Amino acid sequence: MKRRLLITSALPYANGPIHLGHLVEYTQTDIWARYQRLRGHDCVYVCADDAHGTPIMLRAKSEGITPEELITRMHGDHLRDFTGFGIQFDLYHSTHSPENFEISQGIYRALRAADYINVREIEQAYDAVAGIFLPDRFIRGTCPRCGAADQYGDSCEACGATYSPTDLINPVSAVSGAVPERRNSEHYFFQLGDFSNFLQQWIHSGTLQEEIAHKLDEWFSIGLADWDISRDAPYFGIPIPDAPDKFFYVWLDALPGYMAATKHWCATHDRNFADYWGPESTAEIYHFIGKDIIYFHGLFWPAMLKGSGHRLPTGIFAHGHLTVNGAKMSKSRGTSITAGQYLQHLNPEFLRYYIATKLNSHVEDIDLNLEDFLLKGNGDLVGKVVNLASRAAGFIQRSFAGRLAASLGKDQAFYDGLLQTQEAIGEAYAGREYGKAMRDIMALADQVNAYVDQNAPWALAKDSAQREALHRVVTVTLNGFRVLITLLSPVLPELSRKALEFLHCELDWAALAQPLLDHPIRPYTHLLQRMEKTQVDALIQNSAEGPASIQTSPTAPAELKEETPFISMDDFSKVDLRIVRIVSAEAVEGADKLLHLTLDIGEGTRSVFAGIKSAYDPISLVGRLTVMVANLAPRKMRFGLSEGMVLAASGPEGGPFLLSPDSGAQPGMRVK
Ligand code: MSP
Ligand code: ZN
Repeated sequence: MKRRLLITSALPYANGPIHLGHLVEYTQTDIWARYQRLRGHDCVYVCADDAHGTPIMLRAKSEGITPEELITRMHGDHLRDFTGFGIQFDLYHSTHSPENFEISQGIYRALRAADYINVREIEQAYDAVAGIFLPDRFIRGTCPRCGAADQYGDSCEACGATYSPTDLINPVSAVSGAVPERRNSEHYFFQLGDFSNFLQQWIHSGTLQEEIAHKLDEWFSIGLADWDISRDAPYFGIPIPDAPDKFFYVWLDALPGYMAATKHWCATHDRNFADYWGPESTAEIYHFIGKDIIYFHGLFWPAMLKGSGHRLPTGIFAHGHLTVNGAKMSKSRGTSITAGQYLQHLNPEFLRYYIATKLNSHVEDIDLNLEDFLLKGNGDLVGKVVNLASRAAGFIQRSFAGRLAASLGKDQAFYDGLLQTQEAIGEAYAGREYGKAMRDIMALADQVNAYVDQNAPWALAKDSAQREALHRVVTVTLNGFRVLITLLSPVLPELSRKALEFLHCELDWAALAQPLLDHPIRPYTHLLQRMEKTQVDALIQNSAEGPASIQTSPTAPAELKEETPFISMDDFSKVDLRIVRIVSAEAVEGADKLLHLTLDIGEGTRSVFAGIKSAYDPISLVGRLTVMVANLAPRKMRFGLSEGMVLAASGPEGGPFLLSPDSGAQPGMRVK
């Protein structure tokens, strides 16, 4: 029976760019949606920008534009990035939409009518200079536990402590620098506790992964508190009905954003919204989310839906977080990579494939190891899959005018064998066990490659008596390639589109049962370019450049004036500063802080020891440009001779941050 599916990914905030961490989620969801479409289900995949809240309001202000202008630009940027990565939304909407105003306010009215809302006065931090109430994240101060300066109002990045902003020592507003005051105002609360019994059962209904249900159980032992759903003006959001100057807290309208997107899509596609979200709906609704927002989707959302007379989702699938080279994404290491930066350097399908190999149905963090990424992408996709086509294509064009044989002959059984695992691979996709699906597909690729090696078409081609055998072997090979490409198509839509064009056939899961016989093939054109290490290096360099080089402290100029005696132009021109390329970087045995760098200075290389090990993974440095003092007298160190010095910035905020020239600079250029 044809199933009707509504699939969503979490709605990304409109205050920042899409990065590789986000892409874990959108890739995971897109693969699932593509698989369901491939199996012929009636399937719609919607998403939207999460456009409201204080950070967006403040960012717009600091850019001197309106929030509407900011979210319009961000919507364009996000959609461009997603499209670049082959994420195929049926609609990419916004929570700042007429549908969402109507739906969010409607849900609120229903909750209020059913007595799930109460109003009471609370005390909150207020920035009298900026004229706004301050969310915890916008209060900074000294950590009450470890004394680290300049920490957030809710948690300390240095020691991991969590606390309330009132515990901070010397708190200041991150917006204006003013000392926050305490002020009272009326807030609106959703009585989550009224849903305790319902939620306790529902979270074990099979909608959530078991591990998530267990995690949520912990919250019931503490007791569910009322949820504060209002924010005071000025706030960029949706007004609360009958409550002047009050707006919904961003999460209250973000979750209904799923419905608003559905509604807009239905209106533009001649569908009925109630068939998806109405109480009688038999559609299946699936939310893909990250582990950090489980609380909202596992407790608030079902309670909001239940309390307002809507249906509940069929499945909520949480995934873990992305790390790069085993660590949290870090700007100074060049591993906080945006989607846009990635697309400048590398083919998106390599990342889609890598993410797929790492994903399963559990809430585990996944690591992007850049070395492994390079090996897997080239080894599996180019080495094992695409090579089959490029090798077979020559024979079929040269010797058989581009036409496949009329039968697989004695190798029909080999072909049928390849289809044995097709359904298991389908189930792995459906069960979000993509890693298993990829392993099973690569095992098939190994079988086809072994078949080619055993049958050695290049040897058959030398003997005209073996013409028929050659035709059979090449036909089997290309049919094996078609199986692989079809099975990989949810992960690699662009490669499969090109490959199926070459094979001159449609994407069709069930049609694999019938091999392509006596069938014309189109001339082979390049399907997939290998990745080069230099591309990965350039990406890391590019992502490290922006943030590291703009790390300046606002008070620096004043300090410089007071404390630094002037030097003459002559003094300065004695320093020979040069652009260099790091050709190798290695840890130094017995030295905790040092890296041994070999630097290309245009006219040869220099060997330099630099105290930057704490901030950089050596491999991430290779290939990048930096600046060196080239005429520093060589220094003999315990580990060898250091022939100069590389320049890096550091301060109490962190570092060292290596300097990087803008693109275009070449090794050997003088810095003046
Ligand atoms: N706006 C909210 C979601 C509202 S849904 C009604 C939000 N936005 S977000 O931009 O911060 O994140 C969007 C999604 O990307 C979330 O599911 C989040 O878990 C996921 N990821 C963000 N960073 C991630 C990683 N580093 N790794 C994996 N997923 C990550 O949350
Ligand atoms: Zn601390």
